[in-house]
Amino acid sequence: MQENNGRSTWGSRLGFILASAGSAVGLGAIWKFPYMAGSNGGSAFILPYIVLTVLIGFVLLFIEMSIGREARAGSGQAFGRLVNKRWNCVGLLSVLTGFLILAFYQVIGGWCLNYMFDACMGHGLITDTSKLGEYFGQFVSNGAMSITMQLSFLALTAGVLIFGVQKGIERVSKILMPLLFVMMVVLIVRGLMLDGAWKGVEFMFKFDASAFTSGSLLNALGFSFFSLSLASGAMMNYGSYLGDDVSMPRSVAWISFLAVMAALLGGLMIMPAVFAFGLDPSAGPGLTFVTMPAVFAQLPMGQLLAVIFYACLVVAALTSAISIMEMSVQYLIDRFGMSRTGSITWNTVLLVLLGIPCALSFGSMSDVLFFGKTFFDILDYMTSNIGMPIGGLAIAIVGGYLAWPAMRKQLHMNETVPAWLESFVKISIKFISPAVIVVIALAGLLG
Ligand code: PFF
Repeated sequence: MQENNGRSTWGSRLGFILASAGSAVGLGAIWKFPYMAGSNGGSAFILPYIVLTVLIGFVLLFIEMSIGREARAGSGQAFGRLVNKRWNCVGLLSVLTGFLILAFYQVIGGWCLNYMFDACMGHGLITDTSKLGEYFGQFVSNGAMSITMQLSFLALTAGVLIFGVQKGIERVSKILMPLLFVMMVVLIVRGLMLDGAWKGVEFMFKFDASAFTSGSLLNALGFSFFSLSLASGAMMNYGSYLGDDVSMPRSVAWISFLAVMAALLGGLMIMPAVFAFGLDPSAGPGLTFVTMPAVFAQLPMGQLLAVIFYACLVVAALTSAISIMEMSVQYLIDRFGMSRTGSITWNTVLLVLLGIPCALSFGSMSDVLFFGKTFFDILDYMTSNIGMPIGGLAIAIVGGYLAWPAMRKQLHMNETVPAWLESFVKISIKFISPAVIVVIALAGLLG
């Protein structure tokens, strides 16, 4: 990214794609997808996730980024510029959604750091599968330890934002992101060779109509948005940094494809091993971290591979966390005229305050419940199942109705777009997206 009149712009089209794909591909694929699938009937979650991402997620991502580029503003101001000032409150909801995601996301980023350090110290492998849950439980319930790791992850995120995204993280992620994909394939192949592993694949893909519930559909919709970093300000902000000389549809198609692939690979990496080791697929947020040490134990040079894997995971998590914090940092700059350093400081302080109860939700605050959920779970639920669907609906209404001509212009900018694609985008954004979001969100929330 380069600074340009106080707003950054992407150095190149590749820089934009890498950063946006870096935002999309993160802990969602490797940490969240497997346990969400495990707790929501496997295929009853995965199949709707794929359909929803193709039918509406991809289009909404294009529209969200186009709104940002057209308005040359992040979501705090973009709706106001394109429609009228009253719409800024919807943009503000997206800013808040992104911010609250980072509040709990940093905790999982801290878990990855911890597992990376542990692997470096030679503790990355567990051969006795009865010990898997115990090892994870001991770490997450140790408040001081998990807060230290969470704060370290947050410090890394803020540090990259201070010292510049392009020089450090773009270069590192160009190597580590492809490496993460390669590592996942290696782990999948090994996992599939375990006895009983195919049951996990069946669980993921075998169509079972009876497993579908309104709750699993809402979770699939929420996860589709989460995996594409939709409706949380980050992608609108990244779109606002994009020069007019770059075509967007192709980049957005790539980003969506990579996000879906990463999630499916994440699922294939965890689920077969879960079944092979007789673990509980609905064990919740710890599932990936409980399972991986047993998979590494099955590999030659497992220790080394564990270090590399967790390092890739930390970088994948960082590129996502950066996209959110960059958005909220830019928001305070645009809205209150703060300096960049001042805005980073404010964001960091607030994230520390919100992050600590999230980290403690797995330990000393595990029985402090709001509507039956821990602080961590309630933030996760509110953002994915309420904030993102409302934000997505707003994006559809603005893009499909209030600013459609501008969106059409964005679609054709520097690209010969076939007529069928324009019709698809138009039908999806005007009719399918709003209808599907309203029906699924209401059924899931009320049902
Ligand atoms: N897409 C990221 C992931 O799957 O890990 C999470 C995320 C990043 C959500 C940025 C929202 C966001 F604005």
